[in-house]
Amino acid sequence: MEPSLGRVLVIVPTYNERENLPMITGRLRAAVPDAHILIADDASPDGTGQAADALAAADDHIHVLHRPGKQGLGAAYIAGFRWGLSQGFDVLVEIDADGSHQPEELPRLLEVLAAGADLVIGSRWVPGGKVVNWPWTRELLSRGANTYARIALGIPVRDSTAGFRAYRAATLEKIGLDDVQSQGYCFQVDLTLRTIRSGLRVREVPITFVERTAGASKMSRTIVFEALWRIAAWGIAGLPARLRRRRHRR
Ligand code: GDD
Ligand code: MN
Repeated sequence: MEPSLGRVLVIVPTYNERENLPMITGRLRAAVPDAHILIADDASPDGTGQAADALAAADDHIHVLHRPGKQGLGAAYIAGFRWGLSQGFDVLVEIDADGSHQPEELPRLLEVLAAGADLVIGSRWVPGGKVVNWPWTRELLSRGANTYARIALGIPVRDSTAGFRAYRAATLEKIGLDDVQSQGYCFQVDLTLRTIRSGLRVREVPITFVERTAGASKMSRTIVFEALWRIAAWGIAGLPARLRRRRHRR
């Protein structure tokens, strides 16, 4: 790992991921041995929280954040970021618990961060990026959501909904987390937009996303509708500034 990056915390949000927990923590410990892991569990009814406690008891690089109930991916990450920043970590990584994001690809993301980016996104939709085992309906949803976000927000990012990423602590401190309201997967778009609007450098690195083999996706209609209306609202709010910039360019 890049020594210049400092201390790395990998945050793993979980809701009913008991079967996946030993797999993801084992692969992370092997792929990035110096990094610490924080499991942010929303009181999963399947006992993920207790399984996480057992892993943490046996490994001083594993930590657990118990949340009171299912409050969404955004809230779990904000709580995880706050914990990591308070503990003095220099890099905060997001990764899904189900193996869709391969821990073996994380060192490549960290290399690009060390080379000078403020946020690195593991991207399915840049050349070289791939998705394995998704039905065409899910691929259409992700491609559609990303095209919509790119056009509505005027951002150059191909995979702004991606959940495999590495932030510098300074990036999270600069963009501010106190007023983040996104709950579902549009949280990812929200933070991407904040990073760009803060004038920071976002880089996309191609990854291979592998659909889970155990447990179930938490994607829901509520998550899709929240993304639709919030992205529209951010797009409208950002329009005056975009138009001003365009007029200046002419
Ligand atoms: N703590 C907590 N609370 N964790 C959650 C919640 C929640 O409310 N909802 C989902 N998670 C966790 C899951 O347990 C998993 O580790 C991760 O978040 C991703 O959830 P999945 O349900 O596996 O997401 P997906 O495979 O359908 O969606 C993927 O694509 C999305 C859209 O591109 C992920 O990569 C998402 O991050 C991404 O936004
Ligand atoms: Mn998944």
